[in-house]
Amino acid sequence: MYDILRPLLFALDPETAHRLTLYGLGVAHRSHLQRFVAAPVADLPVTAFGLRFPNPVGLAAGLDKNGDHLDELGALGFGFVEIGTVTPRPQAGNPRPRMFRLPDHEAIINRMGFNNDGVDALVRNVGASSFRGVLGINIGRNKDTPNERAVEDYLFCLERVYAHASYVTVNISSPNTQGLRDLQEEVTLRRFIETLREAQERLGSQSGARKPMLLKIAPDLGESELDGIAEVVRATGIDGVICTNTTIDHSAVAGDPHGQEAGGLSGRPLFGRSTKVLRGMRARLGPEIPLVGVGGILEGNDAAEKLEAGANLVQVYSGLVFRGPPLIGECVEEIRRQRGAAHAG
Ligand code: FNR
Repeated sequence: MYDILRPLLFALDPETAHRLTLYGLGVAHRSHLQRFVAAPVADLPVTAFGLRFPNPVGLAAGLDKNGDHLDELGALGFGFVEIGTVTPRPQAGNPRPRMFRLPDHEAIINRMGFNNDGVDALVRNVGASSFRGVLGINIGRNKDTPNERAVEDYLFCLERVYAHASYVTVNISSPNTQGLRDLQEEVTLRRFIETLREAQERLGSQSGARKPMLLKIAPDLGESELDGIAEVVRATGIDGVICTNTTIDHSAVAGDPHGQEAGGLSGRPLFGRSTKVLRGMRARLGPEIPLVGVGGILEGNDAAEKLEAGANLVQVYSGLVFRGPPLIGECVEEIRRQRGAAHAG
């Protein structure tokens, strides 16, 4: 099905195609035509940060920023779905065009800038959905909130999404909100995460249901910066790390008509860099802390490689644009096959 639709969608501006696809999925879902795109959730259970995932392949943040397509996305066979990034107040994001396809590289450059309807709208959407799978909610700060007060935005979102999420992701790695990635600096990060960890535990004891909190990091960090982040992860006891967001290094797509567009690069050219950060975090943190591997998964073997590099779970975004929903099952089956081969051998 996606093979037929892809050329039509690729003839459109990427953001229009994106909206149309989500709209179409929603219509199909509500009219029970979803069997043409839906897939059962393949069974390959994983337990991480106290949650049981039916399989380790999830949807990465940014595709459904407001959680208004949860039911239809939840029916595609993912082991978990992450929505957001959401901010306290609604914001428009950057002017369009702000999303570019680079088909020769199976890559995307985006500078969306956290366009979203605000956290209250997201919470309403989650409440109205019938999705009962593992749900991650990814939170950020508004563009006009300075970094010195960023923690207030994250606390605001954390408190509102807490009851509705299976886990919460603290996103400090988008390249499209000015200054955001400076929060990754060790001293700043430690204070920031300590405050959020206190709120997490307080909300957990108030509600009687503790929710894990993950940190999503950039792929553009040097070795000493990774040392600093690993130290903060250990010291604060945050539950896990998502490696990685998009990269600001466009050298892999130099020469492409869109190669020099400002924004974060994702898709195939991100695979090596994001996997290196994942491997580096696993080496620093040891086997206990769960890691989510994301960046450049375009086929089943890429997902298996992320697990080999130390991921407990993986997520996809750009791969879904280029390969369509069959990528999800392909990833699960390749992970299953390689595990089987490893156990047999
Ligand atoms: C993203 N990504 C993203 N990440 C995040 O934490 N919050 C967000 O709002 C967004 N928004 C977003 C928009 C678009 C158009 C893209 C392509 C990506 C990053 C995404 O979750 C993922 O980390 C990267 O895209 C790398 O994975 P892939 O795309 O190579 O599979």
